[in-house]
Amino acid sequence: MNILILGANGFIGSHLSEAILTQTDWSVFAIDLAQNKLEKCLSSERFHFFLGDIIKQKEWVTEQIKRCDVILPLVAIATPAAYVQNPLSVFELDFEANLAIIRQCVRYKKRIIFPSTSEVYGMSTDTEFDEEKSNLVTGPIHKERWIYSTSKQLLDRVIYAYGKHQGLSYTLFRPFNWYGPKLDDIFNPKQGGSRVLTQFIGNLLRGENIMLVGGGGQQRCFTYIDDGIRALIKIIENKNNASHQQIFNVGNPQENISIRGLAELLIGLIKHYPQYANNVNKTQLIDVDAAQYYGAGYQDVQLRVPAIHKASEFLNWQPIINLEKGLRKTLDFYLNPHRC
Ligand code: UGA
Repeated sequence: MNILILGANGFIGSHLSEAILTQTDWSVFAIDLAQNKLEKCLSSERFHFFLGDIIKQKEWVTEQIKRCDVILPLVAIATPAAYVQNPLSVFELDFEANLAIIRQCVRYKKRIIFPSTSEVYGMSTDTEFDEEKSNLVTGPIHKERWIYSTSKQLLDRVIYAYGKHQGLSYTLFRPFNWYGPKLDDIFNPKQGGSRVLTQFIGNLLRGENIMLVGGGGQQRCFTYIDDGIRALIKIIENKNNASHQQIFNVGNPQENISIRGLAELLIGLIKHYPQYANNVNKTQLIDVDAAQYYGAGYQDVQLRVPAIHKASEFLNWQPIINLEKGLRKTLDFYLNPHRC
């Protein structure tokens, strides 16, 4: 198979490219603005990389869509601070640019595997979010955080409709707080500049206080990247057509932890890296108001647990890496790179 990955240098794209090249005989055609996360892929004869921007390189993208069997459009802004600060950029890239790609997949009858998001469930009050049953609940328009969730939700609906009415072959997958090596830049000191895990690791290394938004009682189910990628490979394989026109939550319901609990766990783990122990001891956990941290347009999700019976049944997939093991692997990558 020829697989097209748009945004191959991103967190998911880089891990997926590497997994495809090492575990399968498929070829990868790929584009991104940078290539710093692809060092292990670039030397492979089956990796065909183009350094560029999907919005500017439209002809290249169209050629590859025609050439490839499966298309994964992974280009998106995915950090909550950006949803509030740059909602229109989120709309233009996450929605508009991706809609154009989806339409080309319809036009050239190509299979698309599209990243939906756990964020589509928003503030649903369900104790487990179910792909087929849960309501998708977002806040009022002035709560701009929801532009990401609703952009993705509308694309989910568009893809579903193209599938149902025009035969588009698709799979939607919903990552639940995937984390691991190469997530975000831990050296980006900007508050909200990255997702919570990388933000906290950066805070601890620099001896800065950790900001617990709203007191840190909100919970997330952190899912190690290798578990997520295993699900994606199964989705691409599509054995017995199991992923055809389906939506899958891909998350780890066992590893539900509060944000305060995550901070405490990280403090305990990073203390074992002697070069950082001093700075970690300087760090305090500070409660901060959400509007003060992110701006008035922010609204949070208190509980976000995936139902994964569908992925388990259709894909024969279960997450197998627990949070502590996954965090150790992640910290080894960031803090001890020579060991990776
Ligand atoms: C994330 C992002 O929207 C996407 O990466 C993705 O689509 C989705 O969820 C997912 O991966 O499932 P969220 O979990 O809210 O959303 O984003 P984080 O930045 O990782 O924040 C998690 C929680 O930590 C939030 O409640 C946030 O308020 C809190 N937080 C964040 C802090 O308490 N302190 C910080 O310094 C940063």
